[in-house]
Amino acid sequence: MSNSELEKLNKKYGIGDQLIFSEGPGGFIVAEMRNPHAEATVALHGGHIMSFRPRDHEPVLWLSSNSHFKTGKAIRGGIPVCWPWFADHPTDQDKPAHGFVRAAVWSVSESEKLEDESTRLKLLIADSEETIKLWPHRFRLEMDCTLSDVLRVKLISTNTDNKPFMCAGALHSYFNISSISNILIKGLEGCRYIDKVDQGRRKIQDGAISVKSETDRIYLDTKADCIIEDSGMQRRIFISKNGSRTTVVWNPWIDKAGEMQDFGDGEYKGMVCVETVNADTDVISLAPGNTHTLESTIGLI
Ligand code: BG6
Repeated sequence: MSNSELEKLNKKYGIGDQLIFSEGPGGFIVAEMRNPHAEATVALHGGHIMSFRPRDHEPVLWLSSNSHFKTGKAIRGGIPVCWPWFADHPTDQDKPAHGFVRAAVWSVSESEKLEDESTRLKLLIADSEETIKLWPHRFRLEMDCTLSDVLRVKLISTNTDNKPFMCAGALHSYFNISSISNILIKGLEGCRYIDKVDQGRRKIQDGAISVKSETDRIYLDTKADCIIEDSGMQRRIFISKNGSRTTVVWNPWIDKAGEMQDFGDGEYKGMVCVETVNADTDVISLAPGNTHTLESTIGLI
C-alpha cells in the first residue's frame, strides 16, 4: 500500500477525526471510525469489520490475537463476510470455504456523517476475472455499516448479470465474552437446527443455549433476534436481523481451535459466533437487476 493511496482515500472519504484511513496490521488499509457514540475499525481486506466498541464499554466483537493479516487469508474475528456460498462450496471442495470475498480486497464507495453524529461507511466488491473463475456470475456486493451506539451492517447483493443466480451469505460475527461458561444465548428456543458436530442430525433447541463442547449449529427458519447474556461481564449483547431466516452458532472448543493456527491458546473460551445467515433452505435466488439485503444490528442492552 502506498502513502498516496491513503492520501487519496482520506481526501475523498475521510471525515475529520470521525473517519480516517490508515495502515493497519499486515499493511492492510483500515478505516478507523470514531464518534461520540462508539468506535470501530473496518479493513478493506474482506470488507471486514474488525472491531466495535460502544463508548465506555469493553469491545463487543472478538478478534484473535493470532489472526492472519495476509493477502488471500481471512481475518479471524470481527465480522467476516461470507459470500456467495456458506461453509464448504456445495460441489467443489477445492474452492475456498465461506466463498471468496472475505479474503479479497474491497473498495470504498461512500462515507457520510449523519445528523446525530453517527458515521456511515460503504464498501464495494464486484465481479472480476478472478471471481469469474470461482463463480461464473456478474455481481455487485456492498457492505454498508453505520456506527452509532449500535453497529448496523447491511450486506447488499445485486445481480448485475443477464441470468439469475443463487447466493448464500453470512455476517459471521464473533462476539467478545468473559468466558464461554458464563454465557447463555437466548432467542432460538424451540427452533429446528442441523447439528454439524453430530453427523448433521436435525434437532430442536430445548431452552436457551449454553455452550459446553464444540458447537456448530445451523438454526433453520428463524427470523428471531438473539441475546447473549454474559454474567461475567454483566452485560447483554443483542443481535437483531433482517433478510435472514438462518442463524449459526459456533464455538470450535479446545481441540478444533488447537488445530487452527489463527486461534491463540485458550482463546476459544473468550468468543462465540452468532451469525446472521442465508444458507441451506434460505439461499437467495436473484433475478437480473434484483437486490437482496442481509442486515444485522448489534449492540449492548
Ligand atoms: C462456521 C461454520 O460458520 O464457521 C463452521 O458453521 C466453521 O463449520 C466456522 O468451522 C469457521 O470457518 P472458517 O472457514 O472461518 O474456519
